[in-house]
Amino acid sequence: MNTATTPTANRTNTLFLSPIDVAGIIGRQGIAAALQGMAAYIRQDFLRWQSFDKAARVASHSADGVIELMPIADASRYAFKYVNGHPKNTAKGLSTVMAFGVLADVATGTPLLLSEMTLTTALRTAATSAVAARALARPDSRVMALIGNGAQSEFQALAFHHLLDIEEIRLYDIDPAATAKLRHNLQNNPDAAGLRLTACASIRDAVRGADIVTTITADKTNAAIITADMLAPGMHVNGVGGDCPGKTEIHPDVLRAAKVFVEFEPQTRIEGDLQHLPTDFAVTELWQVLAGKLPGRDNADQVTMFDSVGFAMEDFSALRYLYDQAQVLRLGAPIALMAQLPNPKDLYQLIRPAASPSERASARVALTETV
Ligand SMILES: NC(=O)c1ccc[n+]([C@@H]2O[C@H](COP(=O)([O-])OP(=O)(O)OC[C@H]3O[C@@H](n4cnc5c(N)ncnc54)[C@H](O)[C@@H]3O)[C@@H](O)[C@H]2O)c1
Repeated sequence: MNTATTPTANRTNTLFLSPIDVAGIIGRQGIAAALQGMAAYIRQDFLRWQSFDKAARVASHSADGVIELMPIADASRYAFKYVNGHPKNTAKGLSTVMAFGVLADVATGTPLLLSEMTLTTALRTAATSAVAARALARPDSRVMALIGNGAQSEFQALAFHHLLDIEEIRLYDIDPAATAKLRHNLQNNPDAAGLRLTACASIRDAVRGADIVTTITADKTNAAIITADMLAPGMHVNGVGGDCPGKTEIHPDVLRAAKVFVEFEPQTRIEGDLQHLPTDFAVTELWQVLAGKLPGRDNADQVTMFDSVGFAMEDFSALRYLYDQAQVLRLGAPIALMAQLPNPKDLYQLIRPAASPSERASARVALTETV
């Protein structure tokens, strides 16, 4: 909802951001600045990793998908995201990934922000991939393979173009219409100026000659779309689509051949491509590299892999970013999500039958005047 009015701060008011509002924030800033801004918030939060109360997300699995809750908090803010993953949804005209989230005040429990997070998840995932690749990929990387050209793919392409100077992206999807859609969206688009897009006949063809390989496919199966014989020295694999038990993309031999980095180890062991490897298989948490506590890539020939599953802290950062930007840009609408009570001990007043029309009218005024 775009509103001309200033979102007013109120004791219990919550700022609501619709997909149009979030698109408005991106539109006002430009996609490059928005990705850079979100990446900066994500990096900043990774650097204060110890200040977070962290947990692996809670997943409810069904035959065709998963619905997950992703909570996290620091001393002043709490956030959660509701997100699904249903790879067959697109055949029904629905998105594979849909999400919304909340940012709340720890001191009182008041929800400050209720936001769409479908578009936001695509932005934060691309920004996180770029934060990781800036730390792990060879700095002279210019060519990326992008396997899976669905809803997330343009965001990955733009993040790597703007944040890592990727000049050519080699595309592959089992659905040629998805690749055509990506090319349509990015060709002759000033946001992708200087970016060469090459459609490839196979995954092997797309990966050949790439410095970075991003996999972002959706299929509820243990796939092996990247195999060890496709790797070249110095490659960085950004594995994003394998993010659920029984839903993976990368052959275990790729992980064995690589130095593997993860977001939050306890969650990635359950959900990542890492799930196929023994529990003592060595991995490094990304925050340790960003904070300079452990090395990233050891040499230019090493293969690195970011086994990304998406961690709650990245959504926390994204919600913080949106909340700050919405207030600067005066976007969004305050909503009375919580009961607005003149007397907080008197919740019953919301449903108390009014004795007369005038009492009903004055009760309505009392309950709404704090909105
Ligand atoms: N790690 C994270 O933080 C994170 C965040 C968001 C989404 N995801 C995951 O990313 C994946 C993609 O999400 P989306 O919203 O773009 O889904 P989408 O359904 O819009 O697109 C997925 C694409 O993958 C293609 N595909 C499926 N199997 C393939 C294969 N074997 N080879 C090549 N292409 C193949 C499909 O044809 C489709 O075009 C999902 O699995 C989702 O769960 C991960």
